[in-house]
Amino acid sequence: MKVRKAVIPAAGLGTRMLPATKTVPKEMLPLVDKPVIQYIIEEAVAAGIEDILIVTNRAKSAMDDYFDYYPELEDRLQRSGKEKELAEVKRSADLANIFYVRQKETKGLGHAIWRAKRFVGDEPFAVLLGDDIMKAQKPVIRQLIDAAEKYDRSCVGVQSVATEAISKYSSVKVSPLEERTFAVSDMNEKPTREQMLSNYAILGRYVLTPDIFPILETLEPGYGGEIQLTDGLKVLAHQDKMLAVDFEGRRYDTGNLKGFLEATVDFALEHPETGDWLRAFLKEKAAAL
Ligand code: G1P
Repeated sequence: MKVRKAVIPAAGLGTRMLPATKTVPKEMLPLVDKPVIQYIIEEAVAAGIEDILIVTNRAKSAMDDYFDYYPELEDRLQRSGKEKELAEVKRSADLANIFYVRQKETKGLGHAIWRAKRFVGDEPFAVLLGDDIMKAQKPVIRQLIDAAEKYDRSCVGVQSVATEAISKYSSVKVSPLEERTFAVSDMNEKPTREQMLSNYAILGRYVLTPDIFPILETLEPGYGGEIQLTDGLKVLAHQDKMLAVDFEGRRYDTGNLKGFLEATVDFALEHPETGDWLRAFLKEKAAAL
C-alpha cells in the first residue's frame, strides 16, 4: 500500500465559532499568520502527500481563492520590494495539487468522505479533518501512514481522553499489536459513558482503503441524523481490517473557541516574529492576575 492522496473535509457550517464564521469559513480563520487549513495542508505535504481534495460547500470559495495565484497583489508586492510577503503569497498557491468537490447537502462526515470517491479511485488515502490541528515532531498523518502501510490495513489516529470528554468523540475497542499500534475490533460515535469502548478517541486523522466507499453508500444516518464515518469504519473494524495508532503530538480543536485560542497562543509562542514579545506580554498579564 502506498498513500499519495489526501482528503480534507471542510464543509461544516462552523456553528461553534459564530458570529465570526457567518461569512468567513472556519478553516480560513488565521492562526497567527496563516489560515487554519494551511497548517493541515502543510502536514499532509510534509508526510509526502501529492494530491489533496478539499470537500467544500457553497459558502467556502475563499479557500479556492487562497490556494490560487493573485497576480495583482503579487505585482504590487514585487514593485514595492516586499520579497518576503511575495514569497509567502506564492508559496501558499504552490503547496500541493489541490482539488475541490462540493458536498451539496450537509449530511455528515461519512457523506463528505463519500464525495471523494471519484478523486480517490482505487487507492488508499489519508483523511485530515479541517479543524483538527496537530503539533508534532513527525507529522501525525505520517505516523498513521507508516502503520497502515506496514499492516496493509486502514488506520485511525487516537489518543486517550478523559472519561467525561469521550462523548464529544468516537471511542474504539483496541488490542495491542506493538508500541502505540492496536488492532481495532469495534468503535462507536459520541458514546455515553455506558457505551464507551475505551478512553481512546479518534482525533481527526485517518488512513482509509477504498473499501469504505461501498459501505458509506448504503449507510443509514446515525448520531445526529447524519451519515457518520465512524459507523462505516465500524464495519471494517468488525472485519478485522482496522488499526489505531496512539499518535505522538498535541492536537488542537480549532473548531471551538477555547481550542482555537490555545492553538493561537502555542503557535504564536513558537513564531519567530511573535514568540519573545508574547512571552513578555503573558508574563506581564499573569503578574497582574
Ligand atoms: C468528528 C468525528 C468523531 C471524532 C471527532 C474528532 O466529530 O465524527 O468521530 O472523534 O471528529 O476528530 P465532530 O467533531 O465533527 O463532532
